[in-house]
Amino acid sequence: MEFSPETRIGDIAAHHPLATRVFARHGIDYCCGGGVPLAQACERRHLEVGAIVSEIEATLAQHTSEEQHWLEAPLADLVTHIVDTYHKPLREELPRLEEMAFKVARVHGERRPEIALDALAETVSGLVHELEGHMRREEESLFPQLLDSSDKATPTAFVDEHEEAGRALEKIRQLTGEFQVPEGACNTWRALWHGLADLERSMHEHVHLENNILFPRAMG
Ligand SMILES: [Fe+2]
Ligand SMILES: [Fe+2]
Repeated sequence: MEFSPETRIGDIAAHHPLATRVFARHGIDYCCGGGVPLAQACERRHLEVGAIVSEIEATLAQHTSEEQHWLEAPLADLVTHIVDTYHKPLREELPRLEEMAFKVARVHGERRPEIALDALAETVSGLVHELEGHMRREEESLFPQLLDSSDKATPTAFVDEHEEAGRALEKIRQLTGEFQVPEGACNTWRALWHGLADLERSMHEHVHLENNILFPRAMG
């Protein structure tokens, strides 16, 4: 999809998820405020719309060349890339996020009832355990199966789990108020919000590589 300064922010974000990195970098609200054209959103933030358009285009172009690489590289290299770049760091990060979510809920939950910290901790915890099992099953059974050319089945269960994780991430985005750190938040709270925003970003890339490149290539 082509976009211009007149395109609505929400439409750009929907068609080019990577553009949201540029929006986030410049504090452009692409969710609730997504109904306005890019030019108007830039004006509000005193940003030069031409510079933002170039930045989005550069981000998308860089991604396209990476994507092209993974469409052609040996499948085993792609699997190694997914495990090293996403699974391994997640294994370390997920328990940390869960611990911080419960800690923030315990320490601040009562004084900040307007922020649903308990619900957030429960949602984070659920997602953490789902993902840990999911990645283990990918590494122990799905990936070896995909690399073995004789024994293949479309991994619909995994695609469904990706969707479920996507819904949990969407809920986390809502519960954290779009990852905007609340006034007076302590360091753990800040680190939690930052870590959750990062989790969303990395999961979008990770799932995209699996759903749209690895699975179709392995089935191909
Ligand atoms: Fe994965
Ligand atoms: Fe996955």
